[in-house]
Amino acid sequence: GLFGDKRRNSAGHNLADRDATSALLKAMQAEESAPMSAAAMVGGQLQDGVPVVSVNPANNAQVVGHCKQATPAAVDKALDLAVAAQPAWDAMNIEQRAAILERAADLYERDTAQLLALCVREAGKTIPDSISELREAVDFLRYYAQQARQHFGATQVLPGPTGESNELGMRGRGVFVCISPWNFPLAIFTGQVAAALAAGNAVLAKPAEQTPLIAFKAVQLLLEAGVPHDILHFLPGDGAGIGGHAVADPRVAGVAFTGSTDTARLINRTLAQREGPIAVLIAETGGQNAMFVDSSALPEQVVDDCVASAFNAAGQRCSALRILCVQEDIAPRVIALLQGAMQELVIGDPGDLATDIGPTIDDAARAGLQAHLDDISHVASVIRQCRLPAAASSGTYFAPVAIEISSIDQLKKEVFGPVLHVYRYPRRKLAETIAAVNATGFGLTMGLHSRIGARAKAFVKQSGAGNIYINRNMIGAIVGSQPFGGRGLSGTGPKAGGPNYLPRFGTEYAVSNNV
Ligand code: NAD
Ligand code: ALA
Repeated sequence: GLFGDKRRNSAGHNLADRDATSALLKAMQAEESAPMSAAAMVGGQLQDGVPVVSVNPANNAQVVGHCKQATPAAVDKALDLAVAAQPAWDAMNIEQRAAILERAADLYERDTAQLLALCVREAGKTIPDSISELREAVDFLRYYAQQARQHFGATQVLPGPTGESNELGMRGRGVFVCISPWNFPLAIFTGQVAAALAAGNAVLAKPAEQTPLIAFKAVQLLLEAGVPHDILHFLPGDGAGIGGHAVADPRVAGVAFTGSTDTARLINRTLAQREGPIAVLIAETGGQNAMFVDSSALPEQVVDDCVASAFNAAGQRCSALRILCVQEDIAPRVIALLQGAMQELVIGDPGDLATDIGPTIDDAARAGLQAHLDDISHVASVIRQCRLPAAASSGTYFAPVAIEISSIDQLKKEVFGPVLHVYRYPRRKLAETIAAVNATGFGLTMGLHSRIGARAKAFVKQSGAGNIYINRNMIGAIVGSQPFGGRGLSGTGPKAGGPNYLPRFGTEYAVSNNV
């Protein structure tokens, strides 16, 4: 595997183990008693700032905690400290640096109950989704530590035809700004920061506005593990105000961004227009993800994988399925099964183990989904919309819906939530349908359900997606096994959790020595 000789993915938590699960649930409840307080942190010092409240998306009356926002002055101070401290961090023995990240992974596992409770309450994630999220964060820490040893350890010795010695090495670029989204508030936040640190950079970490508390907890654990205070700074705040201010500073050597395509473009423009070095931008953005189903597919398996891909995490994954493209002969059977499966979905409190689907992140998200539904209803027909339970009125829930569209062109942008579009493609038009999805310009995830081996091979060639899934669901890429990320409108690459990710955070140097 990509981890080297031995696999070291986190074991996570086995929900089938009843005793362990009830102990875990108790421990999670104990974490919820008091609202948390957090603040921007620069050089290890908590900063003063305007407090912003995090409420539970499942129950807007519940305050999860407060976080004092960073000011532009705090960003400037963080940069002063980061620039000064980075060379020593970069020069640190790679074994020591990797060990700090591995220690952080152990601390994340130590604090499982608190991290899961925050994922559930601040981000509205179900317990199984929260467990996967924590596992992914832990995997990123261990995987990038391992990768750092490989890429940033000993130099490569190259042939020296003239008798001199030639070596190629890698070092950090300098200061990285890491900007993350709310939908993976722990895993993506941690993955970006861990990669930038592993490669020898100092980091300014800007979490999403909606989820600063869990990111604060992550930063505390990284510092406890031994990341120096001047190397990692925590700067919660407004995207344009705080993120934009950091990115515009000419002392920033690189930006790791995950979020919407529009924001990635803005950051790219800022980087292009400012003074200073030509900074690297690693952007992971949205998708228009489709699953293709030919007439040889097994409808039950299709519907199982389709429901998981479209509706898990309330569809708030960049990888989530947006367009189910079904060959017309098999479509009636698949749609009938889909309707039945949607009826079985349990929508409710994400803290309840029985819940399949939790809330959307906030009111703006919910309103955007409703606007899309209102809009597309003029040209499309609703196949089924789930009913919300009465208790859902306390949070920002949106009922999962499947809608039949008559053309891929009816989808103009990414719809980020539990909205599944279904398109029936005519016999012998699979290739044209794949081409129409490729033509959206997005290329994140794509799936195929087919029992024809040659078709699967052809699909891999035709698909414009970064992650291709055959006869399975399309979500939950595993670090080290399914390197994740898109192309085109979906991102710059390299793939997170893959062997080519870390080198992008560093810079090469070659030494020709004639001593
Ligand atoms: P967003 O772009 O609105 O925000 C993402 C982050 O960028 C936040 O921290 C925000 O504060 C910051 N930001 C906003 N404006 C900024 C600016 N002008 N300068 C600097 N920073 C700024 O995205 P979102 O709504 O939070 O997240 C959902 C999006 O993320 C979806 O499009 C989804 O597909 C995408 N996503 C992609 C991946 C991937 O790996 N490809 C993973 C998760 C989410
Ligand atoms: N890496 C996440 C997934 O694969 C986004 O679902």
